[in-house]
Amino acid sequence: MEFINVALPKGRLGEKVLSMFEKAGYTCPSIHEENRKLIFENAEVGIRYFWVKPSDVAIYVERGAADIGVAGKDILLEYEPDVYELLDLCLGKCRMAVAAKKDFCDNTNSTLRVATKFYRIAERYYAEKCRDIDIIHLNGSIELAPILGLSDVIVDIVETGKTLYENNLEPKETIVEISARLIANRASYQFKNALIEKIKDALSLQVKR
Ligand code: PRP
Repeated sequence: MEFINVALPKGRLGEKVLSMFEKAGYTCPSIHEENRKLIFENAEVGIRYFWVKPSDVAIYVERGAADIGVAGKDILLEYEPDVYELLDLCLGKCRMAVAAKKDFCDNTNSTLRVATKFYRIAERYYAEKCRDIDIIHLNGSIELAPILGLSDVIVDIVETGKTLYENNLEPKETIVEISARLIANRASYQFKNALIEKIKDALSLQVKR
């Protein structure tokens, strides 16, 4: 029997994604057992799941270690992996935004200091606006940068806006809307096309728009 290998993003989003796959018929009883295993399969439905760091899903899929996977649009825009984007699952909805201190006023005569994890998204956004920027590439706690004067603005994910609000920052511009996407390895999509299309169709019936 041929298996479809699925890279699931570990964490809160992953639980929702798994539940969507299971409602679509791709159940996997062993994945619900309390243990530290990372790979789970159900031969009856031909599925093998594994949990990976959300930002690594696209790498597993691009290189064929997974046939399909679920990755945020933020990761796809930032890393531009060579994969097919098959379906918007409408989960994990948020937006990529520019945020700054409430009283921040942009002085277009000087270089804008931008702190972010998503430096390619930020570079592209400001290049389109022909705005001179200095990128400060951080790995987390981005909100600290404007508070401590490390940057003028940040480019980061905003979901509820609570993190910004509680740090006296506010969203200034929306760059792009983000949600979780079903992606496929290019070769797998060719050679396991019927199976992948079947999963995609079953999932699309579960999408709540
Ligand atoms: C993201 C983002 C913000 C927060 C925004 O971090 O970097 O810190 O969520 O959410 P809110 O608008 O609902 O407050 P995430 O939790 O994804 O983890 P990270 O710090 O690893 O990026």
